[in-house]
Amino acid sequence: MSEMTLRDAMFSLRAMRRLRVDPVPEEDLRFLVEAATQAPNGENQQNWRFVVVQDADQRRRIGEAYQELAANSVRPVVDGEAGEDFPESELFIYRNAWRLAQRIGDAPALIFFCVKGPIPEDRAWGATYYGSIFPAVQNLMLAARSRGLGSVLTTLHLLDEKPFREILALPEDVNTVALIPVGYPEGKFGPPLRDPASTVTHWDRWNHEGPSSTG
Ligand SMILES: Cc1cc2nc3c(=O)[nH]c(=O)nc-3n(C[C@H](O)[C@H](O)[C@H](O)COP(=O)(O)O)c2cc1C
Repeated sequence: MSEMTLRDAMFSLRAMRRLRVDPVPEEDLRFLVEAATQAPNGENQQNWRFVVVQDADQRRRIGEAYQELAANSVRPVVDGEAGEDFPESELFIYRNAWRLAQRIGDAPALIFFCVKGPIPEDRAWGATYYGSIFPAVQNLMLAARSRGLGSVLTTLHLLDEKPFREILALPEDVNTVALIPVGYPEGKFGPPLRDPASTVTHWDRWNHEGPSSTG
Protein backbone atom coordinates (compact mmCIF):
# COMPACT_ATOMS: atom_id res chain seq x y z
CA MET A 1 0.00 0.00 0.00
CA SER A 2 1.39 3.42 -0.92
CA GLU A 3 2.05 5.94 1.86
CA MET A 4 -0.68 8.52 2.36
CA THR A 5 -0.02 12.07 1.23
CA LEU A 6 1.06 14.69 3.73
CA ARG A 7 -2.13 16.58 2.97
CA ASP A 8 -4.29 13.57 3.80
CA ALA A 9 -2.37 13.01 7.04
CA MET A 10 -2.67 16.64 8.15
CA PHE A 11 -6.35 16.89 7.27
CA SER A 12 -7.35 13.74 9.15
CA LEU A 13 -5.18 14.07 12.25
CA ARG A 14 -7.62 14.19 15.12
CA ALA A 15 -6.92 13.58 18.78
CA MET A 16 -7.36 9.82 19.16
CA ARG A 17 -8.09 9.12 22.82
CA ARG A 18 -9.58 5.66 22.38
CA LEU A 19 -6.75 3.34 21.46
CA ARG A 20 -6.69 -0.40 21.09
CA VAL A 21 -4.45 -2.40 23.39
CA ASP A 22 -2.81 -4.29 20.49
CA PRO A 23 0.96 -3.77 20.48
CA VAL A 24 2.58 -1.45 17.95
CA PRO A 25 5.52 -2.93 16.00
CA GLU A 26 8.81 -1.68 17.40
CA GLU A 27 9.90 -0.70 13.91
CA ASP A 28 6.96 1.71 13.74
CA LEU A 29 7.84 3.23 17.12
CA ARG A 30 11.43 3.72 15.97
CA PHE A 31 10.19 5.37 12.78
CA LEU A 32 7.95 7.70 14.80
CA VAL A 33 10.83 8.89 16.95
CA GLU A 34 13.06 9.23 13.91
CA ALA A 35 10.40 11.42 12.29
CA ALA A 36 10.28 13.52 15.48
CA THR A 37 14.02 14.09 15.31
CA GLN A 38 13.73 15.58 11.79
CA ALA A 39 11.88 18.60 13.22
CA PRO A 40 13.26 22.13 13.38
CA ASN A 41 14.69 23.13 16.76
CA GLY A 42 16.52 26.09 18.27
CA GLU A 43 20.15 26.34 17.11
CA ASN A 44 19.85 22.68 16.10
CA GLN A 45 20.84 21.81 19.66
CA GLN A 46 18.56 18.77 19.59
CA ASN A 47 17.98 18.90 23.30
CA TRP A 48 15.00 16.62 22.93
CA ARG A 49 15.01 13.26 24.66
CA PHE A 50 12.34 10.61 24.26
CA VAL A 51 11.21 7.95 26.67
CA VAL A 52 9.17 5.29 24.87
CA VAL A 53 7.32 3.21 27.44
CA GLN A 54 6.05 -0.20 26.37
CA ASP A 55 6.67 -2.18 29.55
CA ALA A 56 3.31 -3.18 31.03
CA ASP A 57 4.24 -2.44 34.63
CA GLN A 58 5.66 0.97 33.76
CA ARG A 59 2.50 1.80 31.79
CA ARG A 60 0.34 0.71 34.71
CA ARG A 61 2.25 2.99 37.10
CA ILE A 62 2.08 5.92 34.68
CA GLY A 63 -1.60 5.26 34.11
CA GLU A 64 -2.35 5.30 37.83
CA ALA A 65 -0.47 8.56 38.39
CA TYR A 66 -2.15 10.16 35.38
CA GLN A 67 -5.61 9.04 36.43
CA GLU A 68 -5.09 10.39 39.93
CA LEU A 69 -4.18 13.81 38.55
CA ALA A 70 -7.14 13.78 36.18
CA ALA A 71 -9.47 12.70 38.99
CA ASN A 72 -8.61 15.96 40.76
CA SER A 73 -8.62 18.25 37.72
CA VAL A 74 -10.70 16.84 34.85
CA ARG A 75 -13.33 14.67 36.57
CA PRO A 76 -14.79 17.53 38.68
CA VAL A 77 -15.54 19.43 35.46
CA VAL A 78 -17.17 16.37 33.91
CA ASP A 79 -19.25 15.78 37.05
CA GLY A 80 -20.27 19.44 37.30
CA GLU A 81 -18.40 19.84 40.60
CA ALA A 82 -15.90 22.43 39.41
CA GLY A 83 -18.03 25.38 40.52
CA GLU A 84 -18.30 26.99 37.10
CA ASP A 85 -20.20 26.40 33.89
CA PHE A 86 -18.37 25.12 30.86
CA PRO A 87 -19.73 25.36 27.31
CA GLU A 88 -20.78 22.04 25.79
CA SER A 89 -17.86 22.12 23.33
CA GLU A 90 -15.41 22.23 26.23
CA LEU A 91 -17.31 19.66 28.28
CA PHE A 92 -17.09 17.32 25.33
CA ILE A 93 -13.29 17.56 25.41
CA TYR A 94 -13.16 17.16 29.20
CA ARG A 95 -15.32 14.02 28.97
CA ASN A 96 -12.99 12.56 26.39
CA ALA A 97 -9.93 13.61 28.36
CA TRP A 98 -11.34 11.89 31.46
CA ARG A 99 -12.08 8.75 29.47
CA LEU A 100 -8.49 8.79 28.20
CA ALA A 101 -7.17 9.27 31.74
CA GLN A 102 -8.98 6.15 32.92
CA ARG A 103 -7.38 4.05 30.19
CA ILE A 104 -4.13 5.73 29.28
CA GLY A 105 -2.03 2.96 30.83
CA ASP A 106 -3.62 0.46 28.42
CA ALA A 107 -2.26 2.26 25.35
CA PRO A 108 0.52 0.06 23.96
CA ALA A 109 3.07 2.87 23.87
CA LEU A 110 3.41 6.03 25.96
CA ILE A 111 5.94 8.44 24.55
CA PHE A 112 7.30 11.18 26.78
CA PHE A 113 8.84 14.17 25.05
CA CYS A 114 11.56 15.58 27.26
CA VAL A 115 14.01 18.46 27.05
CA LYS A 116 17.51 18.43 28.46
CA GLY A 117 18.35 21.69 30.17
CA PRO A 118 16.71 24.15 32.52
CA ILE A 119 13.26 25.64 31.87
CA PRO A 120 13.85 29.31 30.97
CA GLU A 121 11.90 32.13 32.60
CA ASP A 122 12.61 34.59 29.81
CA ARG A 123 9.87 34.84 27.15
CA ALA A 124 12.08 34.54 24.09
CA TRP A 125 14.07 31.60 25.49
CA GLY A 126 10.82 30.05 26.64
CA ALA A 127 9.55 30.19 23.08
CA THR A 128 12.72 28.47 21.91
CA TYR A 129 12.49 25.85 24.66
CA TYR A 130 8.91 24.79 23.94
CA GLY A 131 9.15 25.69 20.27
CA SER A 132 11.97 23.19 19.96
CA ILE A 133 9.79 20.30 21.06
CA PHE A 134 6.28 20.82 19.68
CA PRO A 135 7.34 20.62 16.01
CA ALA A 136 8.84 17.24 16.92
CA VAL A 137 5.55 16.26 18.58
CA GLN A 138 3.66 17.17 15.42
CA ASN A 139 6.12 15.23 13.25
CA LEU A 140 5.61 12.17 15.41
CA MET A 141 1.83 12.46 15.31
CA LEU A 142 1.84 12.84 11.51
CA ALA A 143 4.20 9.90 11.17
CA ALA A 144 1.88 7.87 13.41
CA ARG A 145 -1.10 8.88 11.27
CA SER A 146 0.74 7.79 8.14
CA ARG A 147 1.10 4.30 9.64
CA GLY A 148 -2.53 4.09 10.71
CA LEU A 149 -1.68 4.80 14.35
CA GLY A 150 -3.67 7.15 16.55
CA SER A 151 -2.19 9.53 19.10
CA VAL A 152 -3.10 12.52 21.23
CA LEU A 153 -0.96 15.35 22.53
CA THR A 154 -1.29 15.61 26.31
CA THR A 155 0.32 17.87 28.89
CA LEU A 156 -1.94 17.14 31.87
CA HIS A 157 0.81 15.28 33.74
CA LEU A 158 2.64 18.61 34.14
CA LEU A 159 0.12 19.51 36.85
CA ASP A 160 2.42 17.37 38.97
CA GLU A 161 5.39 15.96 37.12
CA LYS A 162 7.01 14.44 40.20
CA PRO A 163 5.53 10.91 40.13
CA PHE A 164 6.32 10.63 36.43
CA ARG A 165 9.91 11.73 36.99
CA GLU A 166 10.27 8.99 39.56
CA ILE A 167 8.69 6.28 37.42
CA LEU A 168 10.88 7.21 34.45
CA ALA A 169 13.99 7.70 36.60
CA LEU A 170 14.64 11.04 34.91
CA PRO A 171 17.90 12.83 35.67
CA GLU A 172 17.56 16.26 37.29
CA ASP A 173 18.49 18.24 34.17
CA VAL A 174 15.77 16.62 32.06
CA ASN A 175 12.15 17.83 32.07
CA THR A 176 9.09 16.39 30.40
CA VAL A 177 7.00 18.55 28.09
CA ALA A 178 4.39 16.23 26.61
CA LEU A 179 3.06 12.71 26.88
CA ILE A 180 1.77 11.07 23.71
CA PRO A 181 -0.09 7.77 23.93
CA VAL A 182 0.14 5.87 20.65
CA GLY A 183 -1.84 2.87 19.39
CA TYR A 184 -4.24 1.65 16.77
CA PRO A 185 -7.44 3.69 17.01
CA GLU A 186 -10.75 2.24 18.16
CA GLY A 187 -12.58 4.97 16.27
CA LYS A 188 -12.12 6.42 12.83
CA PHE A 189 -9.76 9.12 11.69
CA GLY A 190 -11.52 12.16 10.31
CA PRO A 191 -11.19 15.86 9.59
CA PRO A 192 -10.44 18.05 12.63
CA LEU A 193 -13.26 20.48 13.47
CA ARG A 194 -11.73 23.88 12.81
CA ASP A 195 -13.00 27.32 11.88
CA PRO A 196 -12.24 28.27 8.28
CA ALA A 197 -8.72 29.66 7.94
CA SER A 198 -10.19 32.75 6.27
CA THR A 199 -11.83 33.76 9.58
CA VAL A 200 -8.48 33.96 11.36
CA THR A 201 -6.27 35.32 8.59
CA HIS A 202 -5.31 38.93 7.97
CA TRP A 203 -3.58 39.99 4.80
CA ASP A 204 -0.73 42.51 4.78
CA ARG A 205 -2.07 44.19 7.95
CA TRP A 206 -4.68 43.59 10.65
CA ASN A 207 -8.29 43.79 9.41
CA HIS A 208 -7.22 44.44 5.86
CA GLU A 209 -9.35 42.81 3.20
CA GLY A 210 -7.63 39.85 1.55
CA PRO A 211 -6.78 39.34 -2.09
CA SER A 212 -9.88 38.35 -4.00
CA SER A 213 -9.92 34.84 -5.37
CA THR A 214 -12.14 35.96 -8.25
CA GLY A 215 -9.56 38.53 -9.38
C1 LIG B 1 -0.55 21.99 24.16
C2 LIG B 1 -1.67 20.97 24.13
C3 LIG B 1 -1.96 20.28 25.29
C4 LIG B 1 -2.97 19.32 25.30
N1 LIG B 1 -3.21 18.61 26.44
C5 LIG B 1 -4.16 17.64 26.44
C6 LIG B 1 -4.36 16.85 27.61
O1 LIG B 1 -3.69 17.01 28.63
N2 LIG B 1 -5.30 15.88 27.58
C7 LIG B 1 -6.05 15.65 26.44
O2 LIG B 1 -6.89 14.73 26.46
N3 LIG B 1 -5.89 16.38 25.31
C8 LIG B 1 -4.96 17.37 25.29
N4 LIG B 1 -4.73 18.10 24.16
C9 LIG B 1 -5.48 17.77 22.92
C10 LIG B 1 -6.52 18.85 22.57
O3 LIG B 1 -7.61 18.77 23.45
C11 LIG B 1 -6.96 18.63 21.12
O4 LIG B 1 -5.87 18.82 20.28
C12 LIG B 1 -8.06 19.61 20.71
O5 LIG B 1 -9.20 19.44 21.49
C13 LIG B 1 -8.41 19.44 19.24
O6 LIG B 1 -8.86 18.12 19.04
P1 LIG B 1 -8.89 17.49 17.59
O7 LIG B 1 -7.51 17.56 17.06
O8 LIG B 1 -9.41 16.09 17.78
O9 LIG B 1 -9.81 18.33 16.76
C14 LIG B 1 -3.72 19.07 24.12
C15 LIG B 1 -3.41 19.76 22.94
C16 LIG B 1 -2.39 20.70 22.94
C17 LIG B 1 -2.07 21.43 21.65
